Amino acid sequence: MNKAIVLAAGEGTRMKSKKPKVMHEVLGKTMISHVVEELSKCELEEIIVIVGRQKDLIIEGLKDYDNITFREQKIGKDYPYGTGYAVMQAIDRIGDEDRVLVVNGDTPIIKGETLVSFLKSIIKSDSHAGVLTAIVEDSYGYGRILRNEDGFISEIVEEDDANEAEKKIKEINSGVYAFNGKDLKENLSFIDTNNAQKELYLTDVITILSKKAKKIIPHLAEDSSQIQGVNSRVQLAECEKILKDRINSYWMDEGVSLISPENTYIQKGVTLGKDVVLGPGVRLEGNSTIGDDCVIMGQSRIVDSTIKEGTWIESSHVVKSTVGRSCKIGPFSHVRPNCSIGDNVSIGNFAELKNTSFGDDSKMGHHSYVGDAQVGKGVNIGAGVITVNYDGKDKHTTILKDGSFIGSNSNLIAPVLVEEGGYIAAGSTITKDVGQSELAIARSRQSIIKNWSKE
Ligand code: UD1
Ligand code: CA
Repeated sequence: MNKAIVLAAGEGTRMKSKKPKVMHEVLGKTMISHVVEELSKCELEEIIVIVGRQKDLIIEGLKDYDNITFREQKIGKDYPYGTGYAVMQAIDRIGDEDRVLVVNGDTPIIKGETLVSFLKSIIKSDSHAGVLTAIVEDSYGYGRILRNEDGFISEIVEEDDANEAEKKIKEINSGVYAFNGKDLKENLSFIDTNNAQKELYLTDVITILSKKAKKIIPHLAEDSSQIQGVNSRVQLAECEKILKDRINSYWMDEGVSLISPENTYIQKGVTLGKDVVLGPGVRLEGNSTIGDDCVIMGQSRIVDSTIKEGTWIESSHVVKSTVGRSCKIGPFSHVRPNCSIGDNVSIGNFAELKNTSFGDDSKMGHHSYVGDAQVGKGVNIGAGVITVNYDGKDKHTTILKDGSFIGSNSNLIAPVLVEEGGYIAAGSTITKDVGQSELAIARSRQSIIKNWSKE
């Protein structure tokens, strides 16, 4: 049975951070979530995450994922330290017959498909263990892979323990390993801290197994950028860029135009249709879906939202909402959570919507706010209209039925209802319901004082 151990208890001192290293985000998602998500493509029975200081933050951060068990590694001067010691904490979860994948929690852009093919190739071979390796130009900081004459791994040497010749080796340890349960458990007990960092190295288990004439397979990753580990903020930013470029290239290959890919930010969970055009500065986040032929420009940000076909969005935010087909949103609109906007809707120029359903062919723009409202079809909301939905204690609903017309600069004091075809004269403060086809005027009459300025 296949299990995985994810190492996430390290101190991450080089990050100079108050929070655990693996809780830093790459493209809007914590490193540890990325690793767990990619691992779950391997169809594992259990993922054991080793947590250390501030373990609660990591446990909370992973609460939505299945099949995760946590084991704590005690951190402090009374305890050993190192990746080998971390793995020891999971031993009670590992059976002799288990196939165990071990993954560092600080390699956030590893691809699930690489993990799958790595695991497959190890299972297929009659080897005892395997290491996912990569050839990199700058191998500084990584464990170097030493191979024997048969091409199997004989040793992994850490940066601080490497001699000059070993430091020149370009094949490195990615921090992903496969073991069989029995070998792992038995040989963890033989590792020691006789090394430059005085740590218990997991990599020494590989060296020990090799010395026992066990075959350790090096599995070379096709795309070496994915094994980038994060030990510093600079490497965090490098991962961000690599993942962003990877996702952007994928979508361009799928028929999406990115006018300036380096300035477009698309998170992993987003899906895009054909012939979508994204301008520079656009951010698409969470589980957002963008339909065919949408055009999104300016500093737009779409979060956990669905945008249907042919909609145009300029310099606007849409959060946890649905926008229909052929709409025009912005510039400078803010669609806040829980809005459901129909087709052919126009919302623009400093308009804000919240918790509102907004029917087909309705319009609203020019410094208006509509919150907690049900807006029918073909409704026209003039400039500066405000739903006064909050009395300081409770939120109230505004209902504007089909074809109603709300004149500019009106206040709709909720709860309030405007029936079909109801008209509100500009500048009104509406406190009572307006019936079908009625006109409501609620403002003081204009008076004229002649020759006033002359006198
Ligand atoms: C490790 C490998 C190195 C490899 C590199 C790949 C060892 C000894 N070295 O080095 O060969 O090239 O990863 O990125 O394994 N951790 C714990 N408990 C600990 C120490 C670390 O859980 O006591 C976790 C960290 O949170 C991290 C991972 O293990 O997620 C790797 O630790 P780190 O200290 O970053 O190892 P590297 O020096 O990068
Ligand atoms: Ca590391």
